[in-house]
Order: sequence, then structure tokens, then C-alpha cells
Amino acid sequence: MATTAMSGEAADTARIAIRLTINGAPREVEVTPWMTLLDLLRERLGLTGTKKGCDHGQCGACTVLLDGRRINACLALAVSKDGSEVTTIEGLSGANGALHPMQEAFIEHDAFQCGYCTPGQICSAVGLLGEGRARNRDEIREQMSGNLCRCGAYPNIVDAIEDVLHVKAEAAE
Ligand code: FES
Ligand code: FES
Repeated sequence: MATTAMSGEAADTARIAIRLTINGAPREVEVTPWMTLLDLLRERLGLTGTKKGCDHGQCGACTVLLDGRRINACLALAVSKDGSEVTTIEGLSGANGALHPMQEAFIEHDAFQCGYCTPGQICSAVGLLGEGRARNRDEIREQMSGNLCRCGAYPNIVDAIEDVLHVKAEAAE
């Protein structure tokens, strides 16, 4: 991490150069020390699929994958993630635009209403699959409890995740 030249003014003009791989593409950006990963993604890089709900780590709307693990982007300072690989909802589809199986399952099961929580729910669900800690509906509910849906689409969200989980389990047999 290289600190760029600071003006003689207060530290609020400070910018720090960081490198991230975002949705497979290397990016170099300069951020203030207090800029969150969420604000970097939305405000600076135009990746507005990741939503800002509470901005306090309580709703899960801002969930992204960081080196494959799900995190709340509103709680992460961008500078602290220098060198990391970030995947947002925009990066889940294939190179040819094909939807990720979790995105397809959400559509198939009507797992959203207003859709505001959906990117965070889908990123969280993809992270959950990678963790291998959910094997049934109760465990899916427990492991997804950090992602709130004000529309109450929970049963269909669990249906969608359960579907992908079963396909994954069958493929592993
Ligand atoms: S916006 Fe990050 S948890 Fe709510
Ligand atoms: S679908 Fe509206 S908040 Fe979840």
C-alpha cells in the first residue's frame, strides 16, 4: 500500500492507493482512510448492485464476497482490504452473461419482491454454499439470519438456496 503525497492541509485530503481485483478485473484506486468498501463500490466504481440498507452491519444488504467469504461491505474499510479479491452481484454471472445458478434459483422460486435485499441475499447464499455449514432448511435459515428482507420473502429465499444446495450435494455424490 503506497501513501500518495499529502497536501499540507488536514489529513482529510489524504488519499491512499490500493489495489483490488473486483469481479475478476484488477483495479487501482485512491481512497481516503475512512472510506468503506461499500462506498468505494457504489460511489466510486458505479457498482450499485450492492445495496446500502442500514450502513451499520445489521441488514446484510451490502453483502459481497471477499476472497470468497461473505462480508458486510459497510463495515469494511477499503484500505484494510488492499490486495483482496472482491465479488459483487455484478460479478456472479458468467462471462457470456449466463446467470449464476443461485440467481436462476431466486428467479425460479420468486425469492424477491421489491428486490432491494436480493443482491446481498444472493451473495450471502453463494458464500454460504462455499462454507459448507448448511445442510437443511433450519441451518440455511440460521446461517442466513444476517440478511434481512423487509418484504418477508424468506420462505422462497430458503427454497431457492435449498434447491442449489441439493444440486451441489448431488453433484458431489
Ligand atoms: S448496509 Fe451493511 S449491513 Fe446493512
Ligand atoms: S425483497 Fe424486498 S427487501 Fe427483500
